[in-house]
Amino acid sequence: MRKIMLAANWKMNTTPNEAQELVNQMLPDLRAHSEVEVLLCPPFISTMLVSELIKNSPVKLGAQNAHYADKGAFTGEISPSMLACMCQYVILGHSERRRLFSESNQIVNHKIKSVIKYNLCPILCVGESLEENDSGRVEDVISTQLRQSLEGLSSADVAGLVVAYEPIWAIGTGRAAGGAQANTTIGIIRRVLAAIFDENTAAAARILYGGSANGANITEFLSQPEIDGALVGGASLNAAEFVSMIKHASNAKT
Ligand code: PGA
Repeated sequence: MRKIMLAANWKMNTTPNEAQELVNQMLPDLRAHSEVEVLLCPPFISTMLVSELIKNSPVKLGAQNAHYADKGAFTGEISPSMLACMCQYVILGHSERRRLFSESNQIVNHKIKSVIKYNLCPILCVGESLEENDSGRVEDVISTQLRQSLEGLSSADVAGLVVAYEPIWAIGTGRAAGGAQANTTIGIIRRVLAAIFDENTAAAARILYGGSANGANITEFLSQPEIDGALVGGASLNAAEFVSMIKHASNAKT
């Protein structure tokens, strides 16, 4: 049985004070729903602060990115070794990183190998553009992203792997994919994972949906057999909205 995960990706939002306020608003409800794995991914500058705030709670902490090197002359970057003492997860290959910061599958592959070395779980983001969707290339695009990003890894390396299927056209647009549509693509992702690794690895991997997920549509996604949770951007910046998602998630699949 895969535990449902709701991951909050705050992106480049919240000052440290705002991050603190947001955590304090949510925390009592997050503590009360440990049957859902809740992950907060604040901006780097608030990582340490949030890790203190959620200490002694079931809430997990994640980073929105990491460099692939352990350390060195990489001005402005953060390495997995720096995150390892505070975080459990690292989001890698988000479409905003791919599009705005030219991250290729090869770079994502380096980063995955590097975070695994520090016992951090990667959340590998994949997803197609609107044009790729319209031209019927979803399976092709996603299969390439998975194969290249996971190249050279064994099934032991990817124990605990989380994949987030985020169609680019659904991110921040208010235009979420339909539950059945997301379920079909996530089924494809699981089949590709089985082909790369094996059936057990594919069955154990949690695969999230991301893209305009909110309190009103989360139940539709979680009622699908292949969908194990959501990577939530905008809706996770509103404590009441995110808490309502967690409450819906705790009622789903029970
Ligand atoms: P959104 O972002 O929920 O604001 O669409 C999701 C994401 O980019 O992870």
